[in-house]
Formats: sequence, structure tokens, C-alpha cells
Amino acid sequence: MLVSSRNADADAVQELYSLHPYPKPLIENDELEHLEQESTRAAIRARVSAHTASRNSSFAAKHRLAGMQATRGAGLRILDAGCGTGVLTAQLASLLPEAEITAIDLCDASLFLARTTMEIAGFANVTVQKANLMDPDSLPRGYDHVFSLGVVHVTPDPARVLENLAGVLVPGGAITTFVYNMWGRKLESLLNRFTVTLARNEPALKERIIRSFSLDRNAVRAEDTVLDRIRIRPSAARWARALVPPIVFDELLPRLQRLRGRTPRGRANWNGNWDAFAHPLVHFFDVESYWEIHERAGLRPLDVWFGGGSVDYRGLLESLLRERGMQDFDVDGLTDREVWVLAECVLTPRQLFFRGVTAESPDERLLQESSRARAS
Ligand SMILES: C[S@@+](CC[C@H](N)C(=O)[O-])C[C@H]1O[C@@H](n2cnc3c(N)ncnc32)[C@H](O)[C@@H]1O
Repeated sequence: MLVSSRNADADAVQELYSLHPYPKPLIENDELEHLEQESTRAAIRARVSAHTASRNSSFAAKHRLAGMQATRGAGLRILDAGCGTGVLTAQLASLLPEAEITAIDLCDASLFLARTTMEIAGFANVTVQKANLMDPDSLPRGYDHVFSLGVVHVTPDPARVLENLAGVLVPGGAITTFVYNMWGRKLESLLNRFTVTLARNEPALKERIIRSFSLDRNAVRAEDTVLDRIRIRPSAARWARALVPPIVFDELLPRLQRLRGRTPRGRANWNGNWDAFAHPLVHFFDVESYWEIHERAGLRPLDVWFGGGSVDYRGLLESLLRERGMQDFDVDGLTDREVWVLAECVLTPRQLFFRGVTAESPDERLLQESSRARAS
């Protein structure tokens, strides 16, 4: 049974994703009325297939799927925890067609879109079901690998969620998560505060911001509440060079408008601005703090990366130190954790990818062997 949360933050998160399921679904709004028609289904199938094909290689690199891809996922049970509208689930299903995949979420609107997408696209290896990551009793169990991408940091208690997810793994199972990194996002908080404070005193600016969030004025109780929730997200590197300059509005507002402009007609109720800029509950992590909650969850941290493809952070650090005249520094003497912490300080990333394994078998190779053994 699902626990109905009394936590106002959790309720606000649920409300956000019910009104604005994330990410942009692979089903158009105007197709929802005609899902039984073969022409609609063919259009959705074609869209899913084009979408996954165009992103398969970047997705596989970003999420370090090479090991699993080698066997097309055969013998693996995979959980996509917090699947949203199922866009990444489709990517997993396409890359690992022989894996048994379960996709869970708490939001009914997202679950409907995810389930319908899987069914129409013909991903027979995916099951979609409702579950609350805060409630261990609601979670399915026995997984070799959990992916929880962009989810843990928008829950009321990330440490508890990680613990609950660790509990669904088989011995030797692994979990890959993506959360927001605190360093790259720090400047955003400053910009946020700056913008909101200014907007409170500038009706025209306030008006433009409210418009860019496609707000239904009748549905909004108090505009000021909305302003409180706005989170501005410019690129960290850009703003690191020019901290909160007046030009912020020349940059920021066109950016918000552009984002809105990209929302196609017929998807009026999909507005990514909400997830990106106005989330009611976001936790930010650095390597150390995220490492700690993995260990508390009984997970051994195995790998850390900051997005993109494979990066040799040790080599990167070595060359940076060499460039700064510190060629005598013994990078080999650093633990992996120290290398990641140092790389994080230098790179101030916005994304933090983390892979942990259950303590029983802290080794990828053993993990793969054990799942193959179970399959045979
Ligand atoms: C930013 S979206 C990420 C969706 C998807 N993983 C992706 O990256 O495209 C976060 C998702 O987490 C889900 N979520 C948040 N809290 C949850 C909870 N306690 N239990 C289950 N799902 C939750 C939301 O409903 C939402 O669909």
C-alpha cells in the first residue's frame, strides 16, 4: 500500500509532476484522444524509434552501459526508479532489449504516459507500476541494477530513498543515480535570489516571468508564491565569469522565452520550465556528501562522473597539476575518492553521476558474473 505523505514538500513535488509530467513525453497531447487509431500508434512508434536511435550512443556513454550492452542485458533485472514519462525507460529498453525492466513512479500522469509509450512502442520487456520511493513496502524487489536518474534529489529524504533502493538489489547488485551537484548550481541560487528580489519590485519583469511559466492566472493563488519557487538556471561557467551582472535579464528572459518557444503546439500542458526553474524541493550534493549517504545505505561507492562520456579524472588532474608546475605531486598516491573530490573542486560540475554496489560484491565483474550465473 502506498503511504500518503503528509509532508508538504512531498505533496508539492507530486503536484508539480502531476501538472507537468517530466520529461517531455513521446506522445503528443492531441494524440491522447486517438490512441486506439492505427495512424496515431504508427506515429508514436516512429517517434519513439527515431528518438531512441538518435540518442542511444550518447545515453550509453553517459550512463556507462557498455558492460550491460555487451549481453543486450540478458539475464538482468533492471529497475528504472522515478521513470517519469518513460523517455529514459524507452532508451534503456532499446539498448538492453533482453533485460527485464520495471519502471516505477509515484505520479499517475507520468505512469500513464510511460505505460502507453511502452505498450505502443512494443517494449514487451518493460512493466510500469506505481510505487513510492519513500515507502519500502511499495517497492518491487530483486534487481541487478537500479537506475534512478534525476530523482533522488527531488525527494524529501534522499538518504532514506537511497537506503530503500539499496534494499531492492540482489547481493552484488548496483545502482546508478544522477543528482544535482552543489558547486555548479551554487551560482544559480544567487541568481535566483537576485532575480526574485528584483522582480518583486518590478511589475514588468514579474509579468514576463509569470508569462514564461504559462501560468493560468485563475489557478495561481498568489503570484508571489510562484516567484518564491522560481529557480534560474543559466550555464554555470558563463555566470562564474560575470557574477550577477545587470545584463542578467537580457540573458535570462530570452532564455526562458526560448525554452517556452520550443514547447510544441499541442503540448501546452508540458512546460519544462517548471522542472528546470521552479522546483519546490531540490537537494544539492557534492561527492563527499553523496558518498556518505551511499555508505550509510550499505552501498559501496564504485564510480563517480560528472556527465558526458568516459573521463579519466586521474589523468586530467595530473595534467592540470603539471600545467601549474606541480609535476612532482604524486597523483597515484591519491585514493579514487580523493581524485573525484579534487576533480569536482576544479570542474565545479552541475551533474553528479554515482554508481554504488551492495557491499557483498563490490566489483562490476563479479556483479556481471553473478547475474549471468543466475540467468543460466
Ligand atoms: C525529474 S523527473 C525524472 C524522470 C526520469 N527519471 C528522467 O530523468 O527523465 C523526477 C521523477 O521522480 C518522480 N518521483 C519523485 N518523488 C518520487 C517518489 N517519492 N516516489 C516515486 N517517484 C518519485 C517524479 O514523479 C518524477 O517523475
